[in-house]
Amino acid sequence: MLRSTFTPIFSTFPTRPRIQNSLSRPLACTFTDVSPDVRRNAALTLPPTIQAVLEPPKSAYIHLPFCRKRCHYCDFPIVALGSLNRDEDDPRMVNYIQLLSREIEATRAGFKTNPPLETVFFGGGTPSLVPPRFVSSILELLRVKFGLAAVAEISMEMDPGTFDAKKMNDLMELGINRVSLGVQAFQEELLKACGRAHGVEEVHEAIHIVKSCGVENWSMDLISSLPHQTHEMWKESLHLTIEASPAHVSVYDLQVEQGTKFGKLYSPGEFPLPSDAQSADFYRTASRMLSDANYNHYEISSYGRDGFECKHNLTYWKNLPFYGFGLGSASYVKGLRFSRPRRMNEYVDYVKNLEEGLKDWREGDHVEAHDLAMDVVMLSLRTARGLDLRTFREAFGDSILLSLCKVYEPYLDSGHLIFMDANGKVMSARELNTLLMDEGEITRRLAYMRLSDPDGFLLSNELISLAFGVIAP
Ligand SMILES: C[S@@+](CC[C@H](N)C(=O)[O-])C[C@H]1O[C@@H](n2cnc3c(N)ncnc32)[C@H](O)[C@@H]1O
Repeated sequence: MLRSTFTPIFSTFPTRPRIQNSLSRPLACTFTDVSPDVRRNAALTLPPTIQAVLEPPKSAYIHLPFCRKRCHYCDFPIVALGSLNRDEDDPRMVNYIQLLSREIEATRAGFKTNPPLETVFFGGGTPSLVPPRFVSSILELLRVKFGLAAVAEISMEMDPGTFDAKKMNDLMELGINRVSLGVQAFQEELLKACGRAHGVEEVHEAIHIVKSCGVENWSMDLISSLPHQTHEMWKESLHLTIEASPAHVSVYDLQVEQGTKFGKLYSPGEFPLPSDAQSADFYRTASRMLSDANYNHYEISSYGRDGFECKHNLTYWKNLPFYGFGLGSASYVKGLRFSRPRRMNEYVDYVKNLEEGLKDWREGDHVEAHDLAMDVVMLSLRTARGLDLRTFREAFGDSILLSLCKVYEPYLDSGHLIFMDANGKVMSARELNTLLMDEGEITRRLAYMRLSDPDGFLLSNELISLAFGVIAP
């Protein structure tokens, strides 16, 4: 049931093939493992809110894959550097930054105009390992190529133990104005078990640096359901997080990925991993403690203080287009999702082919309505705002909307789903039932449908799969 909270949008977009993970990975970054190509239907007419899918992206994800070592749960495309000689630039980084720059330069998205980027997200890997002058050159390239809005949100994933106050200040001067700190846990034994390259002391140091440098917009990543993690440990991590008072918290339920060390050692639901019921309890506890501490649970795995929702990640939830650049990263442009290779040698060839025009920057040019409809449902239902039923109906028609309402009706009774009218008034099961008998009324009266927090969010994989069954049987 759970398996829900984390989907690193870093490189992995929670698309249909990975639906079982949709709750569970941090949609924090970009996306790899992209959905199959979508097809464009020339006759597809979209209402303005959905039309935005076809407009030039205002967001870019940049993948910086370097880490000191690979964490035991991690299956992202990364390069483990081992110990670093701090006095010299690592040639692997130098080469990669050149390659990434060539990729950005060679990208021809074919839009008549490019609006300036409003969000940029440096994800990884551990982007804070990269010397600031490389970050500067990438930002400059983006500025020249697309433009950067004066108020752009520019986020960077940073790991404890990989930066000091000078580096933080240098990055802020370059325009980094949002920090996402990969803390994961506050217990030495759990950090060790995860193969993290830092301990608890570095976590506290990193928090101190971020705060004392005056970064207002910062976030913390935590992982629940780790091996041997007890409820007390989880509550302690949440408590210390609240005490540190970040503007934003991301809570991810551990995904045991094939091919990782955890994948070899553990099976989900079996000791020393928690049972599904225990994982669900971790999720409920996070939701309660963070909500009580004035964090808005605005997305399945994201909590933010008022005004501190991650704008970059909202691009993903709103199904808006974005560029992705770098190893394994994925883009969503003109209604198509596509990803770069995850292996470095293949990525090198990809960039060469792109420069020589041997590879179309995006493959395929068809978007099919049902693919778009599924993306809209899946992404909207991850958010507290939910699915805007009127826009959905305008884009995809009455009959899909009615079928969705019918298939979801039992979940209104069970408290997993909430239907609202245009004034935000929650409908009772009886009201919905009456509406379902009058198709004209239902399409006029219903405005939003959302999952309840926490029980609906916990059931999101099942509920989203039901929607897929209706949209693309
Ligand atoms: C791209 S990773 C960030 C990389 C960053 N260097 C780090 O590990 O702190 C984004 C976040 O995804 C989460 N994450 C990565 N792999 C995960 C997994 N298998 N299960 C649950 N969460 C995971 C972690 O919380 C991590 O901070």
